[in-house]
Amino acid sequence: MPRLDRLDLTGKTAWVTGASRGIGRACAELLARHGARVVGLDLSIPEPPPCPVFRQLDVADAAAVRACTADLAGQGLAPDLLVNNAGVTRDGVLWKLSDDDWASVLRVNLDGAFYLTRAAAPLMRERGGGAIVNVASINGERGKFGQSNYSASKAGLIGFTKAAARELGRFGVRVNAVSPGMVETEMTANLDASATARAKDESLLGRLALPEDVAGCVLFLCSALAVHVTGHVLRVDGGQYL
Ligand SMILES: NC(=O)c1ccc[n+]([C@@H]2O[C@H](COP(=O)([O-])OP(=O)(O)OC[C@H]3O[C@@H](n4cnc5c(N)ncnc54)[C@H](O)[C@@H]3O)[C@@H](O)[C@H]2O)c1
Repeated sequence: MPRLDRLDLTGKTAWVTGASRGIGRACAELLARHGARVVGLDLSIPEPPPCPVFRQLDVADAAAVRACTADLAGQGLAPDLLVNNAGVTRDGVLWKLSDDDWASVLRVNLDGAFYLTRAAAPLMRERGGGAIVNVASINGERGKFGQSNYSASKAGLIGFTKAAARELGRFGVRVNAVSPGMVETEMTANLDASATARAKDESLLGRLALPEDVAGCVLFLCSALAVHVTGHVLRVDGGQYL
């Protein structure tokens, strides 16, 4: 058998949400470095962008997602790969969460992934296959004090990943999730030092993840190396969950 570069994404178009910074930016850069034509999507367009094609999009706005994705498809940028990464936190103990604290986190983290996947799935089917990676969290698996809204959104995203994998498998579309522990990004930059110290302490590797650590696993799940992997939740947490 000839040696194939199974991480090569040449000829593939990848949509990455929340691509301005943090994990999404690292994913956009890594997929592009492996040959994918990456479309970055975020609330605003960063300077410099991580990839030449970048669109402003609020993933929680169903009509905007419909319009943006139809426009991309019309321009020959239908996706082979989709990374649902955009996410937010609005932390607080549940009895102090406002309706908006609850709904806004669910809208971005869960509804947003649904809107993008709903748009991408038929386009991937037409192309004969594809891969979707949802960025969940270990806090969706174990529940986190002060994050009932976020934990619910990420647990929902894991359920959504598995159901979508069932529905889309027969069309050659794989759907997986990564489940990071604490990652050094702007999302975690303003946490109490004690919360960061606890996460490091829980990690069997003694450090927090970097965005590139998560991006590497997203690349793997997007690639032909993972050709028989679907419905899987891959923890990228240095063992923090254990
Ligand atoms: N940082 C962590 O410790 C950690 C751990 C586990 C999972 N995650 C998940 O990883 C993903 C990325 O997080 P990060 O740490 O890079 O955060 P981040 O805050 O650095 O980046 C999030 C990006 O998402 C974008 N975004 C937010 N709302 C959006 C919307 N409505 N539409 C489009 N884009 C939107 C932001 O503008 C930003 O660029 C999130 O889903 C987060 O829940 C993060």
